Amino acid sequence: MAESITIIDNRTGDSTEIPLTNGGVSAAEFSKLLPGVWFYDPAFMSTAACESAITYLDGDAGVLRYRGYPIEQLAEHSTYLEVAYLLIHGELPTPDQYAEWSHEITYHTFIHENVRKRFLEGFHYDAHPMGMLVSAVAALSTFYSDAKDIFDADARYKQIIRLIAKMPTLAAAAHRFSVGMPFVYPDNSLDFASNFLSMMWKVAEPRFEADPVLARALDVLFILHADHEQNCSTTAMRVVGSSHADPYSSTAAAAAALYGPRHGGANEAVIRMLTEIGSIENVPAFIEGVKAGNGRLQGFGHRVYKSYDPRATIIKHTADQVFEVTGKNPLLDIALKLEEIALSDEYFISRKLYPNVDFYSGLIYQAMGFPMEMFPVLFAIPRTSGWLAHWSEMLDQDSKIARPRQLYIGTDERDYVAIDGR
Ligand SMILES: CC(C)(COP(=O)(O)OP(=O)(O)OC[C@H]1O[C@@H](n2cnc3c(N)ncnc32)[C@H](O)[C@@H]1OP(=O)(O)O)[C@@H](O)C(=O)NCCC(=O)NCCS
Repeated sequence: MAESITIIDNRTGDSTEIPLTNGGVSAAEFSKLLPGVWFYDPAFMSTAACESAITYLDGDAGVLRYRGYPIEQLAEHSTYLEVAYLLIHGELPTPDQYAEWSHEITYHTFIHENVRKRFLEGFHYDAHPMGMLVSAVAALSTFYSDAKDIFDADARYKQIIRLIAKMPTLAAAAHRFSVGMPFVYPDNSLDFASNFLSMMWKVAEPRFEADPVLARALDVLFILHADHEQNCSTTAMRVVGSSHADPYSSTAAAAAALYGPRHGGANEAVIRMLTEIGSIENVPAFIEGVKAGNGRLQGFGHRVYKSYDPRATIIKHTADQVFEVTGKNPLLDIALKLEEIALSDEYFISRKLYPNVDFYSGLIYQAMGFPMEMFPVLFAIPRTSGWLAHWSEMLDQDSKIARPRQLYIGTDERDYVAIDGR
């Protein structure tokens, strides 16, 4: 064998040669060679659950690429809609393909009136917008009977368009409802990000003119958040999708995973931390507290990136542009001081802890006027294209239903005891 590892079974003295494929061990091969021996791997720390051609990530080198294109180049030259096309189709669009894609997305931004009137308006007045979004996306499956035809190429494509297009509309509707403002219909003459800003902020003006710098900044943030390979919500999408649930139900499951503070809530934790620190003078004491084990420096460190998060570098630049329009977020100086001290401190250097994408994204969103409850919603809008790219890829791979094994740790068999005998 070209590349292999040899395992000696100390129970029997037998040795088994296991082939290495792409630097890993295929469970199918492993179980043939060592029947009955299995892996205990909660949280999939050492398990590749699928093959994927969508996003490449090298955490040690700080590399992130969508379909081979470096994130830095996409953030500088592309638009979110073009990136969404790239994720779904695997190639950048030609001018004609892009024109058609943009047209399709733009003309599917409206939601059925019943989704808004009967469904969204049924929520309690202080409903969390992310809870509303998760439920509304699931509810959409009941409006499109062809959503279940997941192996019909046209039907599948139509749902992909609908989901990418309607996400900003649902997101803005959830926000408007939670602040008691009337719903704003999509404006088909606007680009994706400007249209979302219009649905968020329009009051009585005939046409909402988003500041182009802010619209572009939001589009860049959408590009940066569009995909991140097998993260928790994408895994949820693939797992639920593997049961052949319709894409709205699968996307709702993915969005539900994103709702959790460990996934979509880190930038909110950064804002809360900066607010709690309160002023630059308190930064050194806060850092000492973190080093002594009192909590974590939010927005620092990453499960995968161990040199730097390439998205953080881009986002810092975007933050400067946004603050020139909105005025500086008063928390920025605290963030910069934290970063300066942490990056020169042995504790953070030796543990390879660098600012991640969430360290600055919350500051930008806050400066743009988004309430903190909207942060995970702002993440879900672009991530929908990534989720759908993975869902479609998984279906094309004719993947089996996801069904991990377990290590049973309960009691052995015992006899039932009637209630009066317990
Ligand atoms: C993202 C995160 C969960 C990754 O964690 P991980 O890869 O499992 O790393 P570990 O929890 O094993 O941490 C490794 C070491 O670094 C320390 N560490 C990790 N992140 C830290 C942080 N943000 N602040 C202070 N110390 C940190 C741990 O205490 C641990 O130290 P030890 O070896 O002395 O025990 C973690 O870095 C974190 O909690 N960051 C803050 C939250 C955040 O920004 N999340 C958004 C991610 S996009």
